[in-house]
Amino acid sequence: PAAASHATPPSASESAAPPQDELKRVAAHRAVELVESGMVLGLGTGSTAAHALDRIGDLLRCGVLRDIVGIPTSEWAAARAAAAGIPLSDLNAHPVVDLSIDGADEVDPALNLVKGRGGSLLREKMVEGASRRFVVIVDDSKLVPRLGASGLAVPVEVIPFGYALTLRRLHKLFHGVPGFNLKLRTASVNAKASTFEEDGFELEPFVTDNKNYIVDLFFEEGIHGDLNLISDEILRITGVVEHGMFLGLASSVIVARKDGVVVMDK
Ligand code: 5RP
Repeated sequence: PAAASHATPPSASESAAPPQDELKRVAAHRAVELVESGMVLGLGTGSTAAHALDRIGDLLRCGVLRDIVGIPTSEWAAARAAAAGIPLSDLNAHPVVDLSIDGADEVDPALNLVKGRGGSLLREKMVEGASRRFVVIVDDSKLVPRLGASGLAVPVEVIPFGYALTLRRLHKLFHGVPGFNLKLRTASVNAKASTFEEDGFELEPFVTDNKNYIVDLFFEEGIHGDLNLISDEILRITGVVEHGMFLGLASSVIVARKDGVVVMDK
């Protein structure tokens, strides 16, 4: 299990019961302190990562940082980073990334993650897996005793071709697990979510940056069992591209709490 270390008391501006977005900002800014001029950076996706992108942009603008190259983990991150003035490149030109900073949906005590609520899990896993150091930034609502326990989805990216068959195979894999359910992610909150049924699906799927679909897995009681084994079993299903469990990838997790920041190191 990861060791929690160096809890830091909040500054005066952080001490007045900050709302969740302020905690995200605090975690992000702490992570950006690790950025050095000349680094190749993996740029995360989501509302927490947004604070990091904006901060890196500010530090570039005022000359504290120079010669940064950013590798975005999504089209969203590319647009946000470009707006912040961060020069961009890709994994082909920079197959080794010095430091990635990104949020997460869940963090377990061993620093395993669930990511992909924003649908960017594939590019995130590619960029973060190519990183010398991957620093996760979260507020403390993301800490869970085991993955899946928050009730949020564990996403699986699948190719559109034959997706209903892939969904059935995922359903079969977890058949009998108490409280298990799965849904094809839909494109809009107004669209009716599709639940698994023998006789058909509502169509209007969410489409990822890679033109794939997402199947969201739900585990009422969290995922029990060997996560690496479960990962292998999901990835063995033809039609599955990747899943949102990030096992052993995080180097450290910066957790912002109302009473200060805690850094969990691997
Ligand atoms: C996107 C992600 C995000 O990092 C994750 O969903 C956390 O987002 P937020 O910081 O907005 O809570 O994995 O695919």
